Amino acid sequence: MHIEAVRGDITEQDVDVVVNAANSTLLGGGGVDGAIHRAAGPRLLEACRELRATRFPDGLPTGYSAITPGFDLPARWVVHTVGPNWHAGERSSSLLAHCFGSSLELAVDVGAHSIAFPAVSAGAYGWDVDEVARVAAGIAAAWANGTDGDADANPSGIELVRFVLFSDEARAAFERALA
Ligand code: APR
Repeated sequence: MHIEAVRGDITEQDVDVVVNAANSTLLGGGGVDGAIHRAAGPRLLEACRELRATRFPDGLPTGYSAITPGFDLPARWVVHTVGPNWHAGERSSSLLAHCFGSSLELAVDVGAHSIAFPAVSAGAYGWDVDEVARVAAGIAAAWANGTDGDADANPSGIELVRFVLFSDEARAAFERALA
């Protein structure tokens, strides 16, 4: 399993799954959420409204993830995950780790081979990007260790985990965490 950190825009990633840094309402927002909804088109909001009407009437809980098609995005799927909000006192690294792990699990469920993550919680939700990078790299390494690069030993089928960072500072943080 190849793990990389790149500078770029999550909406432009040609991977099977892109991860959205959503909020519990699943009804859009700014940052990554706004960019993904703009690029995916209005059908994404319709799909999120359907998730709210069926599986998550009270909203998607912090630390959890839900999957929809990617519609107009290059990516076939979007996994929406709700990161912990530092400003709201949500400061559990295990909750943030669950965002990354549950996103990977949903990607495996749909047979994805590649997934791109933004720095979940490192924007409006106020987490320090070095801590986000540390948590994210830990989850990715744990998943990679299960495969030791051997395709036969890679039950997950995930071949590429790409962290897509919106600034050089964030990318440097992830490069350090992945070193
Ligand atoms: N591509 C990649 N990364 C991006 C992009 C983009 N197009 N836009 C922003 N980012 C970066 C930010 O710079 C930050 O490092 O993604 C990281 C996460 O920032 P946010 O999108 O603000 O996400 P988060 O901190 O998890 O806050 C989520 O903000 O947009 C609302 O609806 C969202 O309420 C939710 C909250």
